Amino acid sequence: MRWFLQKCALFFYIHLVKPILFRIQPDDMHEKMLVLSEFATRHALFRWFINYSMKYNNKQMLAQKLDNFKNMEFNNPFGLGAGFDKNAVTAAAIEGIGFAYAAFGSTTARYCPGNERPWFHRLPEYKSLMINVGLANNGVDSVAKTVSKAHDESRTLRVGQSIARTNDAKAADDSEGIEDYAYSLGQLFGKTAYIEINISCPNTFKGEPFTDPVRLDALLTRLDKVKRSGPVTLKMPSDKTWEEFRELLEVVVKHDVQGVTISNLRKNREGLEIPKDWKGNLSGAPTKDKSDYLIAKTFLEYGQRLVITGLGGVFTPEDAYRKIRLGASLVSVVSILMFKGPAAIPYLKRGLVKLLKDDGFRNIQDAVGTAAIEYE
Ligand SMILES: Cc1cc2nc3c(=O)[nH]c(=O)nc-3n(C[C@H](O)[C@H](O)[C@H](O)COP(=O)(O)O)c2cc1C
Repeated sequence: MRWFLQKCALFFYIHLVKPILFRIQPDDMHEKMLVLSEFATRHALFRWFINYSMKYNNKQMLAQKLDNFKNMEFNNPFGLGAGFDKNAVTAAAIEGIGFAYAAFGSTTARYCPGNERPWFHRLPEYKSLMINVGLANNGVDSVAKTVSKAHDESRTLRVGQSIARTNDAKAADDSEGIEDYAYSLGQLFGKTAYIEINISCPNTFKGEPFTDPVRLDALLTRLDKVKRSGPVTLKMPSDKTWEEFRELLEVVVKHDVQGVTISNLRKNREGLEIPKDWKGNLSGAPTKDKSDYLIAKTFLEYGQRLVITGLGGVFTPEDAYRKIRLGASLVSVVSILMFKGPAAIPYLKRGLVKLLKDDGFRNIQDAVGTAAIEYE
């Protein structure tokens, strides 16, 4: 009965709701999705309805305890990637549709109005969005309150917060940037289940200084001194060669960092026809192959030390399963919510269980990394 409801919701969203939503200017649509999710978070009846209609659990196959991630337990491998809700105001709705964890944010030390609008362009032919938000958010002092409330009130959702460097005219040299991160990390102590450090936001005027190994080492050396209550994962850039990426990982493993999130938006527009005056970087399908490659390479060399969260271009259970078999223990998604709606989450979970069973795995952990060898 519930599966039927979820199938209908998926069909309904893709064939009826999405065509209407995709006529709305994308900045407005994102705003509306947030308002609706916040409304659902606040109202008990809606929360109950979402919980009821989107429920699907298979703990035996999908739940896991990640020893290298400070023994954190997850009901299933699916989480919300950073960017959908910068200010952590939709946690109950996110939990209700069945995510096991969520990275809210990215938030920054100071309030940040973001880049000039428009922030989004749709590229439905590529199953992608162009993003140029520039880290608009309320600032960590405010977000610490909302995320802490979400963390306290959540039942199963592991509430994470992504932090980035403030994108404004006050941003100065590296040491100012490092203190920006350190402030945010300090403010969030005890208020989240885990932290994601975003060093790879491509839509900022200071660029990505901490995707250089020496500068990353300076950042992580400083952050090692800041008290944190849960594990830390680093959000990695996608536009690096394996050799460059590996140099960053060599730095990461020397510090108090438990995981890497692979990976952020794609900058390279090669092979894609995109109007030159559209500013921003790509989410969705164009990020998939590079993310898969970097996940596998990372797993082969650092899989014993780092927990990998895979994200980029997951639209089907097969996409998620591939990331898991290449080495990801957790799989985050963002764009699928715009393209398939909330019922995509039970759809991913059910589909993943079937794929695991078909291949004879009894729990997701048995499948992690089993195909990484393809990239050796
Ligand atoms: C609307 C939107 C906003 C985003 N903002 C952030 C952000 O603030 N911080 C971050 O680390 N990644 C951000 N991202 C990147 C996503 O977390 C993710 O890395 C990327 O979209 C690939 O996943 P997907 O294909 O499932 O969308 C954003 C993505 C989208 C679609």
